[in-house]
Amino acid sequence: MRQFPNDFLWGVATSAFQIEGATSADGRGESIWDRFAATPGKISDGSDGKVACDHYHRWREDVALMRWLGVKSYRFSVAWPRVLPTGRGAVNAAGLDFYSRLVDGLLDAGIEPFVTLYHWDLPQALQDLGGWPSRDTASAFVEYADVMSRKLGDRVKRWITHNEPWCISVLGYGNGEHAPGHKNWGEVLATAHHTLLSHGQAVPVIRANVKNAEVGITLNLSPAEPASPSPEDAEACRRHDGSFNRWFLDPLYGRGYPKDVVEDYVKDGRLASSALPFVRDGDMAAIAVPTDFLGINYYSRAIMRSDRIPESQNAPRTVHPEPERTDMDWEVYAPALTRMLVHLHTDYQPGPLYITENGCAYATGPSEDGKVHDDKRVAYLRSHLEASLEAIRQGVPLAGYFAWSLMDNFEWAFGYQKRFGMVYVDYDSQRRIPKDSAHLYKALVEKNGLDV
Ligand code: NOJ
Repeated sequence: MRQFPNDFLWGVATSAFQIEGATSADGRGESIWDRFAATPGKISDGSDGKVACDHYHRWREDVALMRWLGVKSYRFSVAWPRVLPTGRGAVNAAGLDFYSRLVDGLLDAGIEPFVTLYHWDLPQALQDLGGWPSRDTASAFVEYADVMSRKLGDRVKRWITHNEPWCISVLGYGNGEHAPGHKNWGEVLATAHHTLLSHGQAVPVIRANVKNAEVGITLNLSPAEPASPSPEDAEACRRHDGSFNRWFLDPLYGRGYPKDVVEDYVKDGRLASSALPFVRDGDMAAIAVPTDFLGINYYSRAIMRSDRIPESQNAPRTVHPEPERTDMDWEVYAPALTRMLVHLHTDYQPGPLYITENGCAYATGPSEDGKVHDDKRVAYLRSHLEASLEAIRQGVPLAGYFAWSLMDNFEWAFGYQKRFGMVYVDYDSQRRIPKDSAHLYKALVEKNGLDV
């Protein structure tokens, strides 16, 4: 059987800063991504989010596109500084109303809204007060979650607190590739902790405001696989899995921070001792609050090789020597998605899982026939949906799949050069052209299966 379960939630995903534009419209406050993009050298093509896909003005057209696609759900994020321009306190009604209208428009089109509260656009005013390394930002987030769930809770049932805490902490505060661009390892673990804590504290607030709410968090997991059977590569794998995956999964599912990774950090000087200075009484219980689902963003696997043994001695390699790679230089490898889903289900028992993002960057543009023949995305989509179905066959309660992304958009530090969309965006005219992958997705969704 190549059919998905009847109630499988087919969707597409975007995020506010990547598509909305209109960064100073209707009282929106400044976000850390406005500031970061305005800093020379931070975005590789020198671009910013001021216009992006102009979704703030063209959302009706974009909802119509989704209706054409036939998707059942749309995962989007709310721009915190649109709603609370300085992060907390006075609500900007115009900003809040934008999301309220969008939700109504989606429901009218028969599309269920799936809201992400935080997809990286922290109000700059909160960064000026210390940002995520400061515990106060966690309480500001909980207030913001309260405002949003009160306003939209009569119509929005499914909520994601955070998108990818690993990126928020490591890329934002560790290697400086993302806003706010700090390179301070000391801030990374505090940021990770405060995002997890604010998730844990926001869940009961959302539940109190929303009848029959389903609340969860989205992690970007990176399944680690050793480059060879050597013990050194296995150790590199353990470290990667520990810092990237288990550092977030273990506390969320009641295991606390992984001890082996704490020891690694003490050994390499990232922590002064195994006592984590940012953890207060009750935090770990708050973080381990029961949730209704886990969201997973999957793009590729990580092949780990130890740098302690020479390449020549590291044979035999277990990996493909010349894999297909996307424009992000990420290997295309769908079987790791099945393995990861099965592992999560058996090891952590998180309940229903959603693939909240999956997709690939290829720059394919319109051909002479005016169409966009994105064959590589078509192949990627098929293989990853096969891998998703295989996980369901193996007993994983996979409840939905959200393609990243509905349309080409602002790919953070890469600007507009990386195109992840199933719909092509001509940024000069703002014209949207569904690519071949969009036509395929439409057919798959209609069939609820892969025999298309
Ligand atoms: C994950 C992020 O959530 C999203 O914003 C980004 O565009 C995709 N990965 C692709 O890098």
